[in-house]
Amino acid sequence: MSTEGETRVRRKTAPDIHGMKGGEPIVALTAYTTNVAKYLDPHVDLLLVGDSLGMVLYGFESTVGVTLDMMINHGQAVMRGSRQACVAVDLPFGSYQESPEVAFRNASQVMIATGCSAIKLEGGEEMAPTVAYLAARGVPVLGHVGLMPQSVHTVGGFRTQGRSDAEAERIRADARAIADAGAFAVVVEGTMEPLAHEITREIEIPTIGIGASPACDGQILVSEDVMGLFSDFTPRFVKRYAALGEQIAEAGRLYAEDVRARRFPGPEHCFGAGGAKTRASG
Ligand code: KIV
Repeated sequence: MSTEGETRVRRKTAPDIHGMKGGEPIVALTAYTTNVAKYLDPHVDLLLVGDSLGMVLYGFESTVGVTLDMMINHGQAVMRGSRQACVAVDLPFGSYQESPEVAFRNASQVMIATGCSAIKLEGGEEMAPTVAYLAARGVPVLGHVGLMPQSVHTVGGFRTQGRSDAEAERIRADARAIADAGAFAVVVEGTMEPLAHEITREIEIPTIGIGASPACDGQILVSEDVMGLFSDFTPRFVKRYAALGEQIAEAGRLYAEDVRARRFPGPEHCFGAGGAKTRASG
């Protein structure tokens, strides 16, 4: 129920995103927290609670150590901060690869606990039966092909995929299999531009590119990369729109200077010290 003065906004759904194939580009960003979700929600079609949070928020070396509980907690936070964006939550490594049944148990747990609109999972032809199983049972699936960070240990690092003909053929077959299995859209990450372009033309579901192609049906980036808040490594495909990391460092420096010089807190920040107002007295 909406309170007085608060207009009810319809949240975008997986079918809405699916319907954007070939139209205005789908705008997607990651979000892991309530505040960031609040700031981004008015501007995007899709917020992804990506398992990249393991690296970006927790300082892990890869996404492999991320747990289902972490994804649920951050999924809930993003749902609390957003109103209109379709929210998809990543299934973490180990929570869906074993069998379609295990995938359904964990995907449904994420959807029930967070209220999110969809889940995302990585994988191609080998995951198609799982995607079909989930989609047939009420779980909208966002696929993820190309560079798949959860496979970092088998691939041997975060490297662009699809350079050789054999690799390109595999990625093309992966995207086709995920589309045929009933995913509503697919993230295409870290591939050669012409390949992502061709895949977008070939499959019926929207492609959402990251390090892929401007021809994709949508684009996604990790918000902390866009905001200049994650300095460990900035991939070539990232465009920075802010330098929040530098602003945070400068704010910390100025605060430290003020505290050491006893300039903070001033009388206006204290209760009962020279006319400062209390919160209660306004
Ligand atoms: O985990 C993530 O944030 C992702 C996006 C980079 C697509 O998978």
